[in-house]
Amino acid sequence: MAVPSVATAEQAGSGEVVVLVHGFPLDRALWRGQSSLARHLRLVSFDLPGFGEAEPPPTDVGLQGYSAAVVALLDALEIETATLCGLSMGGYVLFDLWRRAPHRIRRLVLCDTRAEADSDDARRGRQEAVALVQEGRRAEVLDGMLDRLLGPAARGTWIQDHTRSMMQRASDEGIIGALRAMMERPDSTPDLAGIAVPTLVMVGERDVLTPPADAAEMQRQIPNSRLVEVPGAGHLSPLENPEAFNRALLDFVLPEQQTGSTAGAEVQP
Ligand code: MLT
Repeated sequence: MAVPSVATAEQAGSGEVVVLVHGFPLDRALWRGQSSLARHLRLVSFDLPGFGEAEPPPTDVGLQGYSAAVVALLDALEIETATLCGLSMGGYVLFDLWRRAPHRIRRLVLCDTRAEADSDDARRGRQEAVALVQEGRRAEVLDGMLDRLLGPAARGTWIQDHTRSMMQRASDEGIIGALRAMMERPDSTPDLAGIAVPTLVMVGERDVLTPPADAAEMQRQIPNSRLVEVPGAGHLSPLENPEAFNRALLDFVLPEQQTGSTAGAEVQP
């Protein structure tokens, strides 16, 4: 199951390894604004099973299926440890990976994500979305999401078109598998205090799905962590404001370069 993701892996650059894990229902094209980071880092992106060009997974893939895909990718590329950077569902995957294989994680970057499990309402919504996709009505699910993913500045721009095309590439099995995986995911809040690697929490200033106040609360519970708010961005902060996002990521991974972030607002605890 893990192999299809490996087949879609793209890498560029050399040095410190950063592996990028996309959110739902997107694919590795989420990270197009990060390509310039390959001047400083070895950057790896890939499609989770059922998204982008990756083969569909079984619909009971679960978060553990996705984190196994990440481990298989690291093994295939002979990467022992890396900075793992996940956005939203990608963050849920990294919490699972932290529980199963923390020795593969050198640093964590948690973008526009949350540690809590779904509420009962959210689970019901996911169940309804699964039923709609099974009835051939996936457009209703995806169209409903598009507006909420993006901040006001990105709506109606090429970013919206780009986001829509990622959604269109997702397979039905991929969407159903991810909805079920997210619906069944455990609460990762109890794990936060035990995260023993440097962690950067990033959140779009205008993110309505995982709002800045929630990101700040999550960051407060992770010992060696910092929080950066990405100005003007919604839920897809790396795509909506790549300059600020990249500056903060680089400052975190290669502080010796002293890139001196002013574009992203570091929030002091
Ligand atoms: C994502 O961006 O991955 C999703 O918004 C996550 C979710 O639906 O919980």
